[in-house]
Amino acid sequence: MNATSSIKQNLYRLLNNFINNDHDDVKPVVEKKPKVYRNRIVVKDMRTIDEKPKAMKDNDFRPKKFEQIEGQKETIELLQIKIAAFRKTGTSIVHTLFLGPSGIGKTTFANVLANEMGVRFHQVMATKIKTDADLYNIIKNIEEGDVMFIDEIHALSDKIQEHLYGVMEDFTVSLEDKNLNTLVLHRIPRFTLIGATTHSGDLNAPLLSRFQLKVHLLPYNVQELKNMIITAGERIYDVTLPSEIAEKLARLSRRTARVAYNLLRSLMDIAEAQTPGKVTSSVLTMDLLFKMLKYEKIDPLVGLDVASRKYLVELIKESKVVRSTAYVEAVKPIPIGTKPLATLCNQQESTITGMIEPYLLSEIELAFWDNEQKLNKVEKSPFVRITKRGRIPLPSSVNYINICRSLQKQGWFVNESFNIKSE
Ligand SMILES: Nc1ncnc2c1ncn2[C@@H]1O[C@H](COP(=O)(O)OP(=O)(O)O)[C@@H](O)[C@H]1O
Ligand SMILES: [Mg+2]
Repeated sequence: MNATSSIKQNLYRLLNNFINNDHDDVKPVVEKKPKVYRNRIVVKDMRTIDEKPKAMKDNDFRPKKFEQIEGQKETIELLQIKIAAFRKTGTSIVHTLFLGPSGIGKTTFANVLANEMGVRFHQVMATKIKTDADLYNIIKNIEEGDVMFIDEIHALSDKIQEHLYGVMEDFTVSLEDKNLNTLVLHRIPRFTLIGATTHSGDLNAPLLSRFQLKVHLLPYNVQELKNMIITAGERIYDVTLPSEIAEKLARLSRRTARVAYNLLRSLMDIAEAQTPGKVTSSVLTMDLLFKMLKYEKIDPLVGLDVASRKYLVELIKESKVVRSTAYVEAVKPIPIGTKPLATLCNQQESTITGMIEPYLLSEIELAFWDNEQKLNKVEKSPFVRITKRGRIPLPSSVNYINICRSLQKQGWFVNESFNIKSE
């Protein structure tokens, strides 16, 4: 048993004892009124850095160079041309906007771009830039050629977006001088602004037009996701994933890089917890994978989580289920807007549109099995469609929820409701 797992087992034992109130041997000397702590249990991490599990954050998986990026070939080629020109002429790369759903690789590309240019990278969330002074505080640290990265740039207020026009075009900032009661124009070094957004529709047209390069990152295919999973398995966990396990994880990754890494992390966590020694590929079985999915409340068919299932149930409930046979149902769709849908789902509207919907709007393969576990047919269709009047469910979403209901009888999705009949 290595040091990490023995420490981990000791921690588990201590926590178990604690939870089971198994501390008879500790007799209180003086009876004191219990002190009320705001946080009930604090487990201090006393392991050294080397002992800490390695894969903890997005950053650990984040490629540093183009050659480490999977897929997105055309984008990489385009950016490599820009970088070659930058190296030759020294003129900074045009302001660039990365578009795409959460977890697709926008931050990664911004990072790699700055890295490959060999310039400094200043990263800020749009929600942190509330005033002109906030903006100026970031800009004043920028040197010639640097990259300034504004994440979720659509969240900037109109006023700050307008302020950026001059910054991006003329490399000037106008600041109020209270003593002179006048606006003073400050010159700033030429730099590259990189924006990332899940919602380009929320950007002002003039700001959008000042990004000379707009890059739409594409959803990944199964092979690309499988490669990411296998590479991360080797690089971060020092384990070779069995091909069929990597492939199943890839198929459940909702075409998104971050989901792929999260699934891998969850699988490795459960493998680590169950294995006394080092996790080897023989530990990573389909049974273990299914166990992980059950814990994580992810379906074994297409990889949806609780929030996505809730979304589908609420959406279908709004419509009328008109025909119902074993697995085939049809709905008479009644559109619903994202605002009421977000309320019904207890989610932010931006979570619905930026995280839940992108996958549901893409072609999803749904497999049907007969009672003998033989593959009956595979249906390929989006689950949801956007119409002018709102979102509508497509028939495969109803089929999916029906399959979920039968999985529930086998112990999946405890406490979830799949009642799609509207009241
Ligand atoms: N093309 C890719 N190849 C390899 N890993 C990727 C790729 N795109 C994203 N990742 C990884 O997926 C995770 C999420 O990517 P990120 O850039 O943070 O997404 P976004 O900013 O679009 O939400 C990160 O760990 C990142 O390193
Ligand atoms: Mg990001």
